Amino acid sequence: MTFQLADAEQALTTARNHINLRWYPRFHLAPQAGWMNDPNGLVWFDGWYHAFYQHHPYSTQWGPMHWGHARSRDLMHWEHLPVALAPEGPEDKDGCFSGSAVVNGDELALIYTGHKFHGDPTDDDNLYQVQCLATSRDGIHFTRHGKVLDTPPGMHHFRDPKVWREGDSWYMVVGSREDDTGQVRLYRSADLHHWDDAGVLGEASKEMGFMWECPDFFTLQEKQVLIISPQGIAARGYDNRNLFQSGYIVGQWQPGEAFTQEHVFAELDHGHDFYAPQTFTAPDGRRILLAWMNSWESVMPEQQDGWAGMLTLPRELNLTADHRLQMKPVKEVENLRQTWQRWAVTSLKNQQQCVMENAEATEVLLQWDTAASDAEQYGIALSDGLRLYVDNQSQRLVLERHYPQSGLCGQRSVPLPAASVLSLRLFFDRSSIEVFVNDGEACLTSRIFPQHRQLSLFAWSGSAHITECGAWDLA
Ligand code: FRU
Repeated sequence: MTFQLADAEQALTTARNHINLRWYPRFHLAPQAGWMNDPNGLVWFDGWYHAFYQHHPYSTQWGPMHWGHARSRDLMHWEHLPVALAPEGPEDKDGCFSGSAVVNGDELALIYTGHKFHGDPTDDDNLYQVQCLATSRDGIHFTRHGKVLDTPPGMHHFRDPKVWREGDSWYMVVGSREDDTGQVRLYRSADLHHWDDAGVLGEASKEMGFMWECPDFFTLQEKQVLIISPQGIAARGYDNRNLFQSGYIVGQWQPGEAFTQEHVFAELDHGHDFYAPQTFTAPDGRRILLAWMNSWESVMPEQQDGWAGMLTLPRELNLTADHRLQMKPVKEVENLRQTWQRWAVTSLKNQQQCVMENAEATEVLLQWDTAASDAEQYGIALSDGLRLYVDNQSQRLVLERHYPQSGLCGQRSVPLPAASVLSLRLFFDRSSIEVFVNDGEACLTSRIFPQHRQLSLFAWSGSAHITECGAWDLA
């Protein structure tokens, strides 16, 4: 069976009228209806930011992948556009998998993985993944050019092309699985249609996974950053707790040379729901990242509501002198701010104090004086489902969600920063929280499914001191 664009639009037109909005985001991108996974083809073209995404318009489950499409002037307000790609075949008959976009003269080019099985789809030997091209002049309607790069001999998992321009050439990294080892393969082209093999850019050591998905490769502050989403890394202590991870390796590279790694793999985000990020360059030179705000193993209670999956806030990337990648929300998020409510709380001792009745689309600023706080636990709670708190005994910042009715309970945490002040910037949407610690030193991103949204501050077994706290309603 092949799928057509017009059928997808028809299905969405009907389905979007039946969405339950209780957990539908107010300021994040989510599908109009149906299923979304990772962001694809992020690009600035013709005066608009474009975000494409893995999309199944026919149900709230993953299925034959289409490319959903939205655009925005400011990275905050998104306008849905017609579905850009459907698995019309022959090369992509079972799915238009992840990929990227580049501007080539006055054309927008999408490079994506054509996914198909010849025979039984439960047998990987029948899997074919090839890289395909589609182009557009208006940024909305695409002409399909079919396969531009075949699978390397003997390989089956070969997907998620990320293309960029370097000098006179186009380059492309592709995620792959060679004999159960994750790899990133490199290719080079003069015209986007013909690609030459340029070797293996990166390869997993034994414990680093059997498959590397969604590679991204770019220059930042004179270093090269390789982002990967490995499958098959074991959890260790507090790290790598999700089914699959997304992280980065910093090093040096130039065309024709090997990528020399200067900093080992580190996770990008430490929450429950962050996978398969992609970056792009804004017209002012910022490197901006969006990720899928879910994980493959996650329960997704919004499926009962007619939709599934959402993207993170766009985040600006920076590299520190010691080669750590930091993320903070793009400055455009400040345009959503309405009135500032300062909370008149400076210290708490063995108590919980309500500060806001309904945090539905809310940015919170919260600064704790950690040096002066001796409470065993102090932090902020969203009704009885979410707590973000300092655990003084383990010296960690803990994000704990407790939604037993949705089957989602558990913790993620990061070490407390060394500074004596803990500065938190929190973004609450209807079913998500994003935590930015000390201006990007760490991030925790998780989906939440609250019935009530009352915010309160607390300190137990001792006292805690606040230097600043308050919130903006976001429009
Ligand atoms: C990432 C991913 C990609 C693939 C796509 C399929 O989550 O698994 O590797 O192209 O999703 O929907």
